[in-house]
Amino acid sequence: MVESGPLMPGQVSFLLGFIPIFIAWLYSEIVEYRKSLSPSKFHSHVSLVELESAVVKEAEHAVLIEGSFSKSAPSNLQSASVRTNLIRFATMDEVFLLENRALLRSMSEFGVILVYFYICDRTNLFSEANKSYSRDLFLFLYLLLIVASVMTSLKKHNDKSAFSGKSILYLNRHQTEEWKGWMQVLFLMYHYFAAVELYNAIRIFIAAYVWMTGFGNFSYYYIRKDFSVARFAQVFYKLQMMWRLNFFVIVCCVVLNNDYMLYYICPMHTLFTLMVYATLGIFNKYNEIGSVIAVKIVSSFLAVILIWEVPGVFELLWSPLTFLLGQFLVHFLLSRWYRDPDPSKANIPLLHEWHFRSGLDRYIWIIGMIYAYYHPTVEKLMEKLEETETKLRLSIKSGIFAVCLLVGLLWYEYIYKLDKIAYNKLHPYTSWIPITVYICLRNITPLLRNFSLTLFAWLGKITLETYISQIHIWLRSGRPNGQPKWLLSLLPNYPLLNFMLTAVIYLALSYRIFELTNTLKTAFLPTKDNKRLLHNCLAGAAISIFMYSISFVLLQIPIPSVRLEIDFLLIFFFFFVNSHIIFFVMCG
Ligand SMILES: *[C@@H]1O[C@H](CO)[C@@H](O)[C@H](O)[C@H]1NC(C)=O
Repeated sequence: MVESGPLMPGQVSFLLGFIPIFIAWLYSEIVEYRKSLSPSKFHSHVSLVELESAVVKEAEHAVLIEGSFSKSAPSNLQSASVRTNLIRFATMDEVFLLENRALLRSMSEFGVILVYFYICDRTNLFSEANKSYSRDLFLFLYLLLIVASVMTSLKKHNDKSAFSGKSILYLNRHQTEEWKGWMQVLFLMYHYFAAVELYNAIRIFIAAYVWMTGFGNFSYYYIRKDFSVARFAQVFYKLQMMWRLNFFVIVCCVVLNNDYMLYYICPMHTLFTLMVYATLGIFNKYNEIGSVIAVKIVSSFLAVILIWEVPGVFELLWSPLTFLLGQFLVHFLLSRWYRDPDPSKANIPLLHEWHFRSGLDRYIWIIGMIYAYYHPTVEKLMEKLEETETKLRLSIKSGIFAVCLLVGLLWYEYIYKLDKIAYNKLHPYTSWIPITVYICLRNITPLLRNFSLTLFAWLGKITLETYISQIHIWLRSGRPNGQPKWLLSLLPNYPLLNFMLTAVIYLALSYRIFELTNTLKTAFLPTKDNKRLLHNCLAGAAISIFMYSISFVLLQIPIPSVRLEIDFLLIFFFFFVNSHIIFFVMCG
């Protein structure tokens, strides 16, 4: 049975924002449809030319109001001021709606998906089932996926090395994405089937993701010499990266009333991504000099040792920032206060959890940076190796192969096989071993390097979305901040069919969320337009605070039970819909 908990201001704000947007989108579709039916009749009183001049006039009007937007595109409505856009939205301006139909649709779709999340996880509309583990079924499914993937999606890539123009790229994008896919499938199945015997393997997978955070971001900003790009462009890229990592998870926290920490992978990647940026960003003028990079790497290690290994430092540093790990900013403080009068108490386990989770992978991002730094060097060595005569090459390769195998086996025997608690103690210092062994084996011949399984790469692309969504629409947590202890059951009594159905919906929605996050990112965090970005940020903050305050006040209205609160919302909802319908009928 689910326990949805009391309604929170954030949830009401979400509804207040979502409903008008959804209606506006429906209306824009109607307008579009009518226009396509009878293009001449529809704007009988306004010809298209007039319409266009009206658009320009609107834009000029916007200049008058704000007196401040980029001269580059005065008639481009995309750059009209936020305030005019808001007014045009509130008055359901048809031209405005038509122009922004795609964006409205994306936002509505996003909202509908979150409503589906809520219904699956926090209402009793669907039922739930218990998890059960059978090693046979687990391996059967995983191997089946591999076989299917090899048969249908094995693909050879001919990407050329950025440094030499030869096609021997090791650890290329396809490969890292495929790698993420391999791990993600096991990670998700581990949760679905409660495969506790894989606990240690899962720790390795998470370490490998963090390794890739260090590797990918370091390569991106260092190897491609992105520090030569204009300073503000870098800021845009980084903002977009933060959006990609956190937008969806924050909306989930608000709608489902969860702590940010429930999705601990997100704060962890955010933290380590920021640490990579900091490592490269500080004194970035000297990044070309090898010894400076060496000093930076050593300082990173020292910083990690200081923060995580010296008792008390972690708590000292994080306790003022704990709210970040709970729900974000105001939402967190108010709702916490609303829920629990003593927030200081609630924060202690949160901080402990954060110390544990982030501590497990505290070093591996630095290892990722080191590997990224030596990537060009190693690639040149590999090129040379490929050009040496066959006999020497084969003996060197078999040597590497044998060493890898031996190290891997020793690691497996003496470290991996330890029980959970003993293993976790060693994990931060040893997780680089299996990662390195995997990289060596995966890249040992040019043939292996150039082939990848695109199905797994596809799954690897949406790891963030599948990670977050699983808790709510594949598994079920059933209450705020709950661990996903159950399975969502759409087809009770048919566990396997249910597995298939929920998995298909879950994967399709995850992929859609991935696309929508990107669409909304480009719409709200435009690159190369500082002013608009600033306006959007300010407007976003203002709108959120406004909605939040209204919701907060609404919720203060004393109504005896949660049930009644929901009734109240429904009445409000119908009132809102009706008033808009009346409005359309009158205007339309
Ligand atoms: C930087 O790290 C984040 C977090 O893991 C990742 O999503 C992103 O793809 C990385 N960026 C690059 C350019 O590899």
